[in-house]
Amino acid sequence: MQRRKIAIIGGGQIGSILTLMATQKELADVVLVDLPDQVNPVKGKTLDIDHLRPHIGVDINLSATSDYQNITGADVVIVTAGIPRKPNMSREDLLDINLEIIKEVAKKIKQHSPDAFIIIATNPVDTMSYAFQRLSGFPRNQVVGLSGALDTGRFQYFIAEETGLSVKDVSCMVMGGHGPTMMPLIRTASIAGIPITNLLSPQQLANIVKRTKEAGTEIVNLLGNGSAFFSSAASIMEMIEAYLGDKKRVISSSALCRGEYGVDGYYLGVPCVIGADGMERVIEVELTEDEKMALNTTAEAVSASISQTGL
Ligand code: APR
Repeated sequence: MQRRKIAIIGGGQIGSILTLMATQKELADVVLVDLPDQVNPVKGKTLDIDHLRPHIGVDINLSATSDYQNITGADVVIVTAGIPRKPNMSREDLLDINLEIIKEVAKKIKQHSPDAFIIIATNPVDTMSYAFQRLSGFPRNQVVGLSGALDTGRFQYFIAEETGLSVKDVSCMVMGGHGPTMMPLIRTASIAGIPITNLLSPQQLANIVKRTKEAGTEIVNLLGNGSAFFSSAASIMEMIEAYLGDKKRVISSSALCRGEYGVDGYYLGVPCVIGADGMERVIEVELTEDEKMALNTTAEAVSASISQTGL
C-alpha cells in the first residue's frame, strides 16, 4: 500500500512540530517546503527527526526542499508560510506581509497539488484562507483554516483547569473569527454531558471566556518572539487525521460560508464536518439573540479584514 503524503509549506515552529507529531504517529511521509535560504535549517530539523525514528521504530520519509515539484501527490497540504506575531501585534498586523506570501504559495500549490485537502494556518487565518481559496479557485470543501480547533482546545483546557476535571471529558465549541471577537459558546459546553453551568459560576465562566479569547496573545507575550506552535500543530493534526481517516469529526474551522449563519461568500469559524471529502458541510445550529449579535460583530470584523485584501 502506498504511504500517505503530507506537504507542509513553511518549516518553522508549527511546521517542525507537526512533522514530529506525524512521525510519532507514523501517519504519512512528510515534505517540508521553505524559502531557498531556509532549506538547510529545515533539513537539519528533518534529519534530527530521522535520527529519533529508530528510538520509536518508525519508517517514513521526511524531506525538506524549496522545489514545489516535491509536493506532487500530497494528500494534504498545510500552509504555515508567513510571519508570526510578536508582542504588541495583532494577527491583523500580519495581513500585508502574509498576503503576499499566500499569493505566491496558492499559485504553486494549485499547480502541483490540485487534489489535496488544504489547511491554512497563516494569520490572520480567516482572511488568508479566503485569499487562498479565491486565488487558487479550489472548491470550498478543499480549503479550511485552522481557527476553532485551536480556540476550542484552549476553551476545553481552561474549563478542565477550573473544574479540576479531565480535559478528555470536556466538550465545547468556539465559533467566529480567529481574533478578539471569537465566540466561546458557553451554551455548548459540558463535562461528560453535564452542562457546564451546573459546575461553574457565571463569574468563573466569564473569566474562562475572556482567557480563551486572549489565549494566543498571552502566549505571544510570554514567548517574546513568536506565537503558539505546539497546540497549533496538535490542532492541525486533529484536522489531518479527521480527513485521512474519513472520521466525520465535527471540528470548528474557518470555512467558506454560502449563506450559513447569514454569512455569504467569505470565511468564518463555524462547526464543520471533516471527512474524506474535506470540509464536507457546515452544521448550522439555532443561535440565541445574544449569540446572533456576537456573530454579527465577529462576521463584521472578518469581513472588514477581508476587504483589505482587495480580492
Ligand atoms: N514560502 C515558503 N515558506 C515561507 C515563505 C514562503 N514564501 N515565507 C516564509 N516562509 C517560512 C519561513 O521561512 C518560516 O520557516 O514560513 C515559516 C514560518 O515559520 P515561523 O516563523 O516559525 O512561524 P510559525 O510559528 O510556524 O507560524 C506560522 O502560522 O499561526 C500562524 O501567525 C502564525 O502566520 C504564522 C504562521
